[in-house]
Amino acid sequence: MSSAAPSSSPPRRGDELELTIDSLAYGGNGVARRDGYVVFVAGGLPGDRVRAVVGKAKRAYAEARAVEILEPAPDRLPEVAHHPGAPWQVLPYERQLEVKAEQVEEALRRIGKLEGYELEPIVPAEQQWRYRNKLEYSFGTGDGGELVCGFHAPGRFDEILPMDDCKLASERGNALREAVLAECRRQGLGAWDRREQRGFLRNLVVREGRRTGEFQVRLVTSPGKLDADALIDAVRCEGLFWTQTEGLGESTQGGETQLLAGTPQLRERLGDLEFLISPEAFFQTNTEMAELLYGIAIEMAALRGHELVYDLYCGIGTIGLSLASRAKEIVGVEIVEPAVADAIENAKLNEVDNASFYAGDIRLAMRELVEQAGRPDVAVIDPPRAGLSQKVVRRIVEAAPKRIVYVSCNPTTLAPNAAQLVEAGYELKRVRPVDLFPQTPHIECVALLEAGPRGVANPDRDA
Ligand SMILES: C[S@@+](CC[C@H](N)C(=O)[O-])C[C@H]1O[C@@H](n2cnc3c(N)ncnc32)[C@H](O)[C@@H]1O
Repeated sequence: MSSAAPSSSPPRRGDELELTIDSLAYGGNGVARRDGYVVFVAGGLPGDRVRAVVGKAKRAYAEARAVEILEPAPDRLPEVAHHPGAPWQVLPYERQLEVKAEQVEEALRRIGKLEGYELEPIVPAEQQWRYRNKLEYSFGTGDGGELVCGFHAPGRFDEILPMDDCKLASERGNALREAVLAECRRQGLGAWDRREQRGFLRNLVVREGRRTGEFQVRLVTSPGKLDADALIDAVRCEGLFWTQTEGLGESTQGGETQLLAGTPQLRERLGDLEFLISPEAFFQTNTEMAELLYGIAIEMAALRGHELVYDLYCGIGTIGLSLASRAKEIVGVEIVEPAVADAIENAKLNEVDNASFYAGDIRLAMRELVEQAGRPDVAVIDPPRAGLSQKVVRRIVEAAPKRIVYVSCNPTTLAPNAAQLVEAGYELKRVRPVDLFPQTPHIECVALLEAGPRGVANPDRDA
């Protein structure tokens, strides 16, 4: 049961608090202070007065969820869509951009102690809605016992909110979700129960080639029976897949995937290049903005034609292949094997003959790569959100590229990585945020580091 907490003592789980939000933390939660004690409030914007229920309470801070806006912030907007994937839609878009740019600067200053570089203006998104080329939906059971397909309710692992029109997806993407849902209902299939950890239908992944109009649809279930022929008839797309997994988590990765109908790869275009994308492979979820992001990476790489370029965390080879006509040689490394196979095929498809791609874990592959391919002139690094481990940074310093273009989807991991590189002798020159994810707190940016005049430190080779 909830209770109002006295303001002098730290709150406890379930307490209800009245709070005024004064800023936004990295990740998008509002920040409120009670006698110096910090409460992070999901759903709170600076200037809001809210009633919030405490979830987690620690000695130094608590996490809470706004359940009622008592007084809205002056610039709070009405919701366009009830959508858990668009928590910042109530913040004017110009404000979203300002906050993102501030958070990049703040992460670099506070975490990385980095200053003296040029923070270039954030690139706004071309489309503020319906920009995602990939949506991962979850199946669940509605209040009336009906099968639903949508997104997790905020903070709830077991409750799925149905979605009539996902305003982050295109209309055709929505129509495909509806078609799969209708057919699954017709077949009488039930949803995976996340509390009991049993049941059949788990997730639905809809991916769109924005430039080609192609769609790839993947149904993720527990092992079981499905009338695949009826599903093929009901869902018209270029590639229809069925993944059966025994896993207990929410991940759509892993399991056994079979192609039910169509082609095994989605076709997409970026700039002058064509790409084939397997269902397991990463592809930036905002196609239009990915093109601009890669344009910035190309410009920062400042290639003149004689360079050996490493494309680390290369996925299906998008960045490396975009750089290939300006470089002597491109060498890419990626851990997901189907993505590497796509990268190799994509090089052929685009008649690029100076790019090679290898499957490997960057954490282990760097020294061998340098031995085989030689030291890079330029390294483009595009890691997942966790950024680079200290060991990977040391291996990159050992490889000693003159220039590093770091594409980051998380400024709080870019900051310590950039600080380590600066410590080793690189200079952070430029950082440019790009808004790939309007209506959300996610931030993408590209950073340029160059070897300083005294060169880079020789790291401990045995480390
Ligand atoms: C942010 S994506 C970037 C992909 C690609 N550069 C692009 O723009 O499409 C990060 C990639 O790193 C890969 N990856 C994750 N951990 C890795 C590791 N330890 N070694 C190599 N690749 C890894 C992921 O599979 C993913 O394709």
